[in-house]
Amino acid sequence: MIIFTEKHALKVYLSTLKAQDKTIGFIPTMGALHQGHLSLIKQAQQKNDVVIVSIFVNPTQFDNKEDLVKYPITLESDTKLLKSISCDVLFHPSVEEIYQENVVSENFDFDGLEHQMEGKFRDGHFNGVGTIVKTLFEIVEPDKAYFGQKDFQQFQIIKKMVEKHQLNLKIKGCKIFREKDGLAMSSRNTRLTKEQREIAPFIYKTLKKAKKKFTTENVEKVNEWVENQFKKEPLLELEYFTIANEKTLETINKKESGKKYRAFIAVFAGEIRLIDNIQLKN
Ligand code: PAJ
Repeated sequence: MIIFTEKHALKVYLSTLKAQDKTIGFIPTMGALHQGHLSLIKQAQQKNDVVIVSIFVNPTQFDNKEDLVKYPITLESDTKLLKSISCDVLFHPSVEEIYQENVVSENFDFDGLEHQMEGKFRDGHFNGVGTIVKTLFEIVEPDKAYFGQKDFQQFQIIKKMVEKHQLNLKIKGCKIFREKDGLAMSSRNTRLTKEQREIAPFIYKTLKKAKKKFTTENVEKVNEWVENQFKKEPLLELEYFTIANEKTLETINKKESGKKYRAFIAVFAGEIRLIDNIQLKN
């Protein structure tokens, strides 16, 4: 695996591959890699000649300073992991390399997608995500980029950005990779205490039951039921549960036939914020 920290050197290297008509698959990450990230890399390896992973803890997407400071950094084990699965290229730039002196976000208009769910609770988050992903796309110029549906809103927003800015690449969505007990894998899971980790699968269990209820009951009843479930769990605090249109991400109050819906959830275990989602059938 070749490791780059400078964008110019990376661009020069990639241009030689592109001159040989090699296809490039790209997976942007913030490191602390786990099986969820690896599942994206493996999908990219099946469809591209060369696979490049970036590790960059992007300061502009953190609305909470504490979360940024505490974000796990495990570069040595990440590098080993990437080598073990034969990743071709790792790009690991510094904050200065990406932002120079100006660590600020660009302002994006994602046709309202950015105002739903995470956008309501994490001020400026999607401007930060848009800024870094667009910058990385401009450096790497991949043929395909892979995003997890764990962050479903992020995935839809990136697709919107590519469409609106007419970027020349394909965005691929990959299904949520879970622990055996159902907890969606996340770099933040390592920060959970033993007790929090034991109770955390309750989130996905509740989503699965909500999915079942959604087939027979109305939206209000499902919402109420989920809220009541979390009232019984003192270690978990529900921030939001919402059923939304999969395309517009707008919260719904009533089902309509022919539309695709998804349930989204954000929960605090102590100060650790966990998110998950599930596709619904109506
Ligand atoms: P990060 O949280 O490191 O995630 C990198 C990619 O891995 C994202 O596309 C995310 O959705 C995906 N991912 C994480 N956990 C997953 C799981 N359990 N199953 C499937 N995919 C999973 O998301 C980011 O970084 C950043 O916002 C980034 C896009 C890199 C921009 O800074």
